[in-house]
Amino acid sequence: MIELSKVSKSFNSAVKAVDNIDLKVNNGEIFGFLGPNGAGKTTTIKMVTGILAPDNGSILIDGLDITKDPLKAKKQFGFVPDSPNMFLRLKGFEYLNFMSDIYDVPTKERKEKIEMLSNRFEMTKALGDQIQSYSHGMRQKIIIMGVLIHNPSVWIMDEPMTGLDPRAAFTLKEMMREHADKGNTVFFSTHVLDVAEKICDRVAVINKGKLLFCGKLGEMKAHFKVQGESLEKIFLDMTEHE
Ligand SMILES: Nc1ncnc2c1ncn2[C@@H]1O[C@H](COP(=O)(O)OP(=O)(O)O)[C@@H](O)[C@H]1O
Ligand SMILES: [Mg+2]
Repeated sequence: MIELSKVSKSFNSAVKAVDNIDLKVNNGEIFGFLGPNGAGKTTTIKMVTGILAPDNGSILIDGLDITKDPLKAKKQFGFVPDSPNMFLRLKGFEYLNFMSDIYDVPTKERKEKIEMLSNRFEMTKALGDQIQSYSHGMRQKIIIMGVLIHNPSVWIMDEPMTGLDPRAAFTLKEMMREHADKGNTVFFSTHVLDVAEKICDRVAVINKGKLLFCGKLGEMKAHFKVQGESLEKIFLDMTEHE
């Protein structure tokens, strides 16, 4: 579970990048965080994951405060950032073992997990190569695998579909569903409505730092009192720039 209460953040300008957001993401659901470029998605996610400190408000991960109890809170989640260009000098399997070490995954379990994940993401042959030789999509996949290896109860991703080929995107969506169905929390951002429409149980829409809607996508039409419009048109209207 992720709970944000009155969370704000501004950088050097007068405009807040994230403006007084309340949000609750439940166990067992896939939750999409939607909004156009510059809306405040990444800033919010960086606060949730403890990379940035909020100016105001509190954030709980499975009931643990990310500011007051960072180490315990961080153990609860796995995070896939928007750029997968990390650990470039490590070979695929070295990175996966490194992540297993950090999160205390027992030897037998990590072996099974690595085998399963590399099969599903078609990465078995690449594990012996350095990550810097990987394509963008492969880097994305190896980061996702490293995050899943410790079976986090909260799985957070920033624009995870970017750069994945259709097959990898399909596998990722399958895994998100499976993870949520086991009672875990899946929280991800996207600027693409189609992605959210296919897999999210609930979404929140953010624009200019403010939360405009939170609920089931099917409820969005009723919420904004429009009939006969496509969700896409509603989304574009509500996130319009002046
Ligand atoms: N480190 C930073 N310094 C100054 N402004 C920033 C910084 N990071 C983000 N911003 C600004 O905050 C706003 C929200 O950005 P971001 O959270 O990255 O949006 P999104 O992920 O939804 O595209 C933008 O106006 C962006 O320019
Ligand atoms: Mg972003």
